[in-house]
Amino acid sequence: MSIIIKSANEIEKMRIAGKLAADVLEFIEPYIIPGITTNEIDKLCHDYIVDVQHAIPAPLNYRGFPKSICTSINHTVCHGIPNDKKLKKGDIINVDITVIKNDYHGDTSKMFYVGEVSPHAKRLCSITRECLMLAIAEVKPGCTLGDIGYVIQKHAESNRYSVVREFCGHGIGNKFHEEPQVLHYGKRGEGATLEAGMILTIEPMINIGKRNIKVLKDGWTAVTKDRSLSAQWEHTILVTGTGHEVLTLRQEEQ
Ligand code: MF3
Ligand code: CO
Ligand code: CO
Repeated sequence: MSIIIKSANEIEKMRIAGKLAADVLEFIEPYIIPGITTNEIDKLCHDYIVDVQHAIPAPLNYRGFPKSICTSINHTVCHGIPNDKKLKKGDIINVDITVIKNDYHGDTSKMFYVGEVSPHAKRLCSITRECLMLAIAEVKPGCTLGDIGYVIQKHAESNRYSVVREFCGHGIGNKFHEEPQVLHYGKRGEGATLEAGMILTIEPMINIGKRNIKVLKDGWTAVTKDRSLSAQWEHTILVTGTGHEVLTLRQEEQ
C-alpha cells in the first residue's frame, strides 16, 4: 500500500474542509467556561457544522463513536466522549473536530483552559503545542516520518514528559484515516519519505507522567494509567513543493 498524492482539485477541497474544522475551534472557544457540559459543547459544534457550515461531523457514528466531537479532559488522552459532566475551573480540555465537506476531511484539535489553570498544566499544554509546531517545521519533500516523530519525542522527553505510543497521526483525504501512520516518536531518516501532494495529520499526545494508557469500558476513552495530565494538539498539513501548508490554521496562529 502507498501514500496517496492528492490532485490539485482534491487539495482545493482539503483546504476548504481544513478551514471549516479550524473555524469550529474558533467558534467554540468562548463557550469553554466552568459549568458548561461537554454534551452542550458537542451540541453547539454539531449544530454549527451542520446548520452553518453545511458539513458533516465525521466522528458521529464513525466505528460506533456516539457523538460529533471528542472532548478529552485532564488525564484523558484522546477520544473522550461528551457527557453531562460540567467543566470546572482548572480543567484542561482538548476539543477534537473533524468535518467532512464535499467528501473531504479536515481534522484539528487544541487545548483550552477552563478558567484559571495551574502552571504545570499550562506548561504541559504549551510544550505539547511546541512539539506539534516543531514537527510541522520539519515537513517538506524529502523529510521522513521518522524526522517528524524524532523532533516530537526529543522535545517532549527533554522536558521530562512522555509520548503516547498507542495513537498516531494519519494520512487524510476522502477517508478519515488513510496511510501512513504518523508516529509521534522515532528516529531521523526512518520511515516513508514525504512528497508534494501528500496530506497528513500530526497530533502528539504528551503526558506529564508515564506514557502508558488504558481504554475505558466505553471502548473509546483513553486515559493515562497513572492518571497524570495529558495534552494534545492536531493540525492537517499539506506537503507542498517547497515545504508545507497547514490546512487547519486558525486566526490566532497567522
Ligand atoms: N479526530 C480523531 C483523530 O484525530 C479521531 C477521532 S475518531 C472518533 O484522528 F471516532 F473518536 F471520532
Ligand atoms: Co486525526
Ligand atoms: Co482529530
